[in-house]
Amino acid sequence: MEIDWAGLRAAAIETMRRAYTPISDFPVGVAGLVDDGRVVVGCNVENASLGMTLCAECGLVSSLHATGGGRLVAISCVDATGAPLMPCGRCRQLLWEHGGPDLLVEALPRPLRMTELLPHAFGYEDMERVTGPAGAAEVPAELAKWRGRGTVFVHPDLSGGETIWTGYWERSSGEPGTSEEKGILEEGPNFPAAAAAVAWGLVRSPRVVVVDAEGKLSWAGEGDTPEGIPQRWEDNS
Ligand code: THU
Repeated sequence: MEIDWAGLRAAAIETMRRAYTPISDFPVGVAGLVDDGRVVVGCNVENASLGMTLCAECGLVSSLHATGGGRLVAISCVDATGAPLMPCGRCRQLLWEHGGPDLLVEALPRPLRMTELLPHAFGYEDMERVTGPAGAAEVPAELAKWRGRGTVFVHPDLSGGETIWTGYWERSSGEPGTSEEKGILEEGPNFPAAAAAVAWGLVRSPRVVVVDAEGKLSWAGEGDTPEGIPQRWEDNS
């Protein structure tokens, strides 16, 4: 993906001018290129309650999700002189979550990768090492933009002669009249009970369909049971 660094810097400078900084008089602006080509921006916002300051990067990440999600590819963060500013430590962690190790951050003389700004970063893998894959309810970072979309199908399966529950996350919503791309986003781990597989699904999408051993469908998602699904799922385990 082509990165228009001058354009990003210009958007960051424009946004920096809208910062709200009655305490520090240190305005910061940031602009980020999203993997679908959008540009999102943020500025810092201070408060009389001094510890409550929102860094520019916080606004950027909120805007990222408010306007459709996706992953950050490159950011330019600037100070009042328009020069590149290094994100603070907390914001490096914040950016890590939404851009990952390859996110490029404008710096002089060259952009830096997030791995250079935040080596040995803490992430979900560190938690999974302790909780194991069954506790890994979190959506993998590369699938974060799909969260809330698509449909999760939960079904029983055989593993080593035992019945377990698993599922998969399908990218289409199944809503009639839409021409959506189809395909599996993620295969779920094995769970001992249906309820755990449903919980795995609800972290991903509000549309969760349980397909039992006989192929009968029930709705374990949010809201009313949609047309075509005969009943609501009940946890009988
Ligand atoms: N600031 C940011 O907005 N982002 C950073 O990464 C560094 C610091 C803001 C917070 C505060 O409003 C001002 O800069 C001075 O610390």
